Amino acid sequence: MVMFGVTGDLARKKLLPAVYDLANRGRLPRGFSLVGFGRRDWNDEQFAAEVLTHVKKGTRTGFDQQTWDQLAAGLRFVTASGFDDDDAFARLGTVLAELADTRGTESNHAFYLSIPPNSFETVCEKLSAHGLARRAEVTGPVEGPADPWSRVIIEKPFGHDLDSARELNRVVETVFAADDVFRIDHYLGKETVQNLLALRFANRLFEPLWNNQHVDHVQITMAEDIGIGGRASYYDGVGAARDVIQNHLLQLLALTAMEEPISFDADHLRREKEKVLEAVRVPEDLASASARGQYTSGVQNGQPVVGFLEEEGFDPGSTTETYAAFKLDVHTRRWSGVPFYLRSGKRLGRRVTEIAVVFKRAPNLLFTDTTEENFGQNALIIRIQPDEGATLRLGSKVPGTQMDVRDVNMDFSYGRSFTEESPEAYERLILDVLLGEPPLFPRHREVELSWRILDPFIKRWESLDSQPDPYEPGSWGPDSAHQMLARDGREWRIP
Ligand code: BG6
Repeated sequence: MVMFGVTGDLARKKLLPAVYDLANRGRLPRGFSLVGFGRRDWNDEQFAAEVLTHVKKGTRTGFDQQTWDQLAAGLRFVTASGFDDDDAFARLGTVLAELADTRGTESNHAFYLSIPPNSFETVCEKLSAHGLARRAEVTGPVEGPADPWSRVIIEKPFGHDLDSARELNRVVETVFAADDVFRIDHYLGKETVQNLLALRFANRLFEPLWNNQHVDHVQITMAEDIGIGGRASYYDGVGAARDVIQNHLLQLLALTAMEEPISFDADHLRREKEKVLEAVRVPEDLASASARGQYTSGVQNGQPVVGFLEEEGFDPGSTTETYAAFKLDVHTRRWSGVPFYLRSGKRLGRRVTEIAVVFKRAPNLLFTDTTEENFGQNALIIRIQPDEGATLRLGSKVPGTQMDVRDVNMDFSYGRSFTEESPEAYERLILDVLLGEPPLFPRHREVELSWRILDPFIKRWESLDSQPDPYEPGSWGPDSAHQMLARDGREWRIP
């Protein structure tokens, strides 16, 4: 694996520990080697020392000297003056050839581009010009040993809007075959996101109810209590819609709404997700189907915190949103008339990601004492994180002589039901790249379909050239987001 951007935040915090943890679990192929490519003037030993620091900080499996020694023997570093440094790419070629000879990598290469997307084109072109990226040509049964493979891993943002996403896809797929492009959406690597498929398709219970006859609406929430301090260079001009809704939340929507695929093969799974995204019609009234906000200064968890516009590195007049909410309709026979509400924000009440499928009320309620305050609608809440699991909210009789009904929860928690530890999302995804298993990676069409949905909303916000609505740290977003649901006679859940 060749890692571009190996000194970046993501590599240090997630990727390097994930590679080590895979090694520690005995999941890496024999001869696995990791080549860092970057500007630092490091030799292999200095690179190894750097990797070791981050591995020790981030490992989930614990530090094991023997694992480390084996991994460290395959660490190399190539210093480059920039991503267009031809000499460095030539040296990379020499290093890869040496690794094939000495460690038996069989010249299989995964290029991890953990770098800003405006450098993708240069890196892809250089890899191609130096003969390092080979396009897989013919497919089908071949006699003899398999050809070596070249795969590329790219991190979101997959573009800035629909046009740039198309251009990015074109550039990457000029050099790599479409099947060799692995777009990482780390939410798809989360155990609980995959459990959504198990919950829906392994059980008989939910499927008959999973439609507009019974479901009133769906709420998909990704809330964070942290602010955006320290990430100005990435976040300013990006905002919540592009950062997480275009990818993580629309993927959750697609997995919640899709039909059962005929198998979990990449093609089948992706096809069903794409159908959902394609069936999302962009509303005519963009204003009433969306809300955006920016957190102000205030107090969170007892601590004073600065507002978004005072965060270091941001333009004090920035119109970047730190909160975004959308109401989307999926125009299929199954979902027509069921709104999907999506929201995400920084500095909200707590860190939580969940999908709440809220059911219609029973058509006839005999329980006269029952009010909407003490008996809400039935709901299935799938908790992606933290406290992974699911809760079914039901009405139950209150003990006593009266026939009173109250909400109760039936709870499933991963922690209590399983002793096995879930692998980190990046472990799962990196392993899948090495195995050439693409189901958990969105393909180019999914990315473009997601942008097609969001583009009109974002363009409208940009044309307004006004500040997003303010909200207080620790709250659940701006008033405009609450009004969006109130207009439909609904409320956001407070997770
Ligand atoms: C990333 C976003 O994709 O996901 C970040 O760029 C966000 O802004 C992060 O903080 C959250 O990931 P997780 O796995 O902690 O929910």
